Amino acid sequence: MSSEISTPIISQNSHRSQTFGKVLSWELNQHVLEGRSELAKFRISVLEEGIFRIQASRFDEFESNPYSVIAQPENQQFDFVEDHGYLKIETSQVKLELNLENFALSFFDHSGKLLNADDPLSVSWIGSEVTNYKQVQPDEKFIGLGEKTGNLDRKGKAYTNWNTDYFAYGTGDDPLYMSIPFYLGIHSGGAYGIFFDNTHKSVFNFGASTNRFIYFSAEDGDLDYYFIHYPTVAEIIQAYTRLTGRMQMPPKWALGFQQCRYSYYPDSEVYAVAQGFRDKKMPADVIYLDIHHMEAYKVFTFDGEKFKDPKAMIARLKEKGFKVVVIMDPGIKTEKGYLPFEEGHEKGLFVNYPDGKTYEAQVWPGWCAFPDFTKEETRKWWGEKMAFYTEAGVDGFWTDMNEPASWGQFTPNLIEFEFEGEKASHRKARNIYGMQMARSAQEGSIFQEPNKRPFVLTRSGFAGIQRYAAAWTGDNVASEEHMLAGIRLVNSLGLSGVAFSGYDVGGFAGEASKSLFARWMSIGAFAPFYRAHSMINTKDSEPWAFGEETEEISRNYMKLRYRLLPTIYSSFYQSCLTGLPLSASLAVDYAQDDKIYQSAFQNEYIFCNSFLVAPVESFREITKVYLPKGEWYYLYSDQYHSGNHVIYQDSPINYLPVFVKAGQIFTMQSDVNHTEEKHDGTLRIHLYKGKNGSVFHHYEDAGEGLNYQKGEFYSRTIAYSPETGKLEFSKSEGSYSSDFSKLKIYFHGFELSQVDLLGKPILVKHEDYAFLGKLTEFDPLPEHDHPYFEIKDLRYIEIPNSSEAFTITGLC
Ligand code: NOJ
Repeated sequence: MSSEISTPIISQNSHRSQTFGKVLSWELNQHVLEGRSELAKFRISVLEEGIFRIQASRFDEFESNPYSVIAQPENQQFDFVEDHGYLKIETSQVKLELNLENFALSFFDHSGKLLNADDPLSVSWIGSEVTNYKQVQPDEKFIGLGEKTGNLDRKGKAYTNWNTDYFAYGTGDDPLYMSIPFYLGIHSGGAYGIFFDNTHKSVFNFGASTNRFIYFSAEDGDLDYYFIHYPTVAEIIQAYTRLTGRMQMPPKWALGFQQCRYSYYPDSEVYAVAQGFRDKKMPADVIYLDIHHMEAYKVFTFDGEKFKDPKAMIARLKEKGFKVVVIMDPGIKTEKGYLPFEEGHEKGLFVNYPDGKTYEAQVWPGWCAFPDFTKEETRKWWGEKMAFYTEAGVDGFWTDMNEPASWGQFTPNLIEFEFEGEKASHRKARNIYGMQMARSAQEGSIFQEPNKRPFVLTRSGFAGIQRYAAAWTGDNVASEEHMLAGIRLVNSLGLSGVAFSGYDVGGFAGEASKSLFARWMSIGAFAPFYRAHSMINTKDSEPWAFGEETEEISRNYMKLRYRLLPTIYSSFYQSCLTGLPLSASLAVDYAQDDKIYQSAFQNEYIFCNSFLVAPVESFREITKVYLPKGEWYYLYSDQYHSGNHVIYQDSPINYLPVFVKAGQIFTMQSDVNHTEEKHDGTLRIHLYKGKNGSVFHHYEDAGEGLNYQKGEFYSRTIAYSPETGKLEFSKSEGSYSSDFSKLKIYFHGFELSQVDLLGKPILVKHEDYAFLGKLTEFDPLPEHDHPYFEIKDLRYIEIPNSSEAFTITGLC
């Protein structure tokens, strides 16, 4: 026996923070600058003029996350200079200075203004935990970080990224279901984004309990972050989504109203609810099957009693214009004879303990095994299993409980995941698990029905989740506070690359009052994802279940949503191209305006580029709205407001404060009961007079299928220029023929009697116009007054649609 005592693996005291220290050597190798100190090594690469990647590690190999960044640009060629103790790198967008004394980095814009600088503590480790400490600029605000509660400006708060199943979370609680370690810093010197690409539990502290710095840290793994700078917030989000990807065009039906319930059963109830929408003339497209569709909650089964013939049921629903979305939970009951369990077990597709035994935890079905979605073979297998649903006619998939959730809510860290061959414990894999389940669902849907557009809705996710699924904000509560918090969550997701998201309208837990439900339905009409949902053992919560007043208000806004589909669909297409949010916090366009961060105004957002939505509690009959610089019109009456003003706006329960940006264009269609129903063939184009013009990107395609990727679309720009008084329609592109044979162009804010089309005068007509229907004079009268707005003598012309370019002139 040897008497030698082996050297400890970590020779230095790892209970104290150890900083990166003095940089001792460096070299530029294949467009990458690498160097080291005594403790660690670093690597700096330039992906784009405005994207730098910074890595620091104490291990031999740099570690990277195989899941989030999909961009594979060639590293850009760059030069560095050594100058008075600094290494300096410069691109057209960013100048970086690396202090050789302590590895502190400073980023400047091209004009030399400081954007972001490390604290002298720069990058440090405590044990395996890595942290980057950064200075705060005097007026700096911090936004983004995905699904995080709290204020738009996250200053003074700390957040943890650790995907968590959190029933009825509080509006300030953290962490929730999804983690996106990407934030933006905004100050008078400019804006930048930081994406910390590390899947371990991470913390972002924007100044909680310290006045020295802000920092981000991860329990383990490397420091690996992307520093992004372009002149605007929008360009930074675009750059972030060039890295982590964007959504694919969803099927049009997914933009319609969706009705959920934990749970609708048996089949007769599902029909009754679907029929309810048609009888009540409330447009709707989707009905959900929550966990009670299964036999004993076993995924890939139907309860044979409650759903005797699922295929026939779904076919009947389709006849009514309804799609069915089915829930899929990851937990697979560990039951002998249950095929998905036996197969998964046999093929080694489950998450295991390090000794190879299957990891089990309890969820709805009892003890369950968990498919290892970080393994390609598992994702494929799951996708194959999904034939069970697609063969029954299911159109969309809802991946729930994929944090992964289990009773006890505390998963042992030693369990092992494949992590694409790398093998990783729960500490590294947890945050990515939900996203990989959503990916598997999307890939499964494509595998089963290659010509259909997949629709997946997920609860859990990580940076890049937007490529696979829409997101919803989990188990919210039926309260006014939650309604507003949900808007901030969705806006924050939008800042963080997830454009397609929403919340449970009406609140999942608890019961909404009549007015709360009405208001929530109105706001939800202006959310990218529009779904009502509610918890087991609560009262009925379909939009007609709260009495006539709520029903009429809900119907009004549902119908408005459907009439706005040409705009919403076009905006979705734009968002697929740009990665920009559909519900855009005012910080996207007005980042340097301090007012927008104030608590009274921080919930306001711009929907589909045109509408400023000012969400307000249902009990508030008058509310303060901040209209940022520019000019605005109150949607319902065309009342004009000059911007950079706070106004007091009446907010009766039947009118959600919505304003249209002057100079803007949006499009509408006639009423339909669901997205596949034919409209009347007239595209309504609403143009708002303003000092600034705009360009609207009109987009149409079949609404389903993938032929649009082969050019089967119809797109054109409609550009308004106040200087020239012109509205210019470009020649259409693509091989799809427009669904609209006529155009009806409304001129808001114009006093016109005639315009010219191709040199010929056209007489302008006028009509009284209302965006929302008049409410019935209820008997007995409800608690609220119901004003009615219409726009008197709104000018319009009607012309045939054409694919050729044409211009309307004389808009003065
Ligand atoms: C939790 C989800 O968040 C909720 O929406 C769903 O209804 C329940 N699971 C039951 O499946």
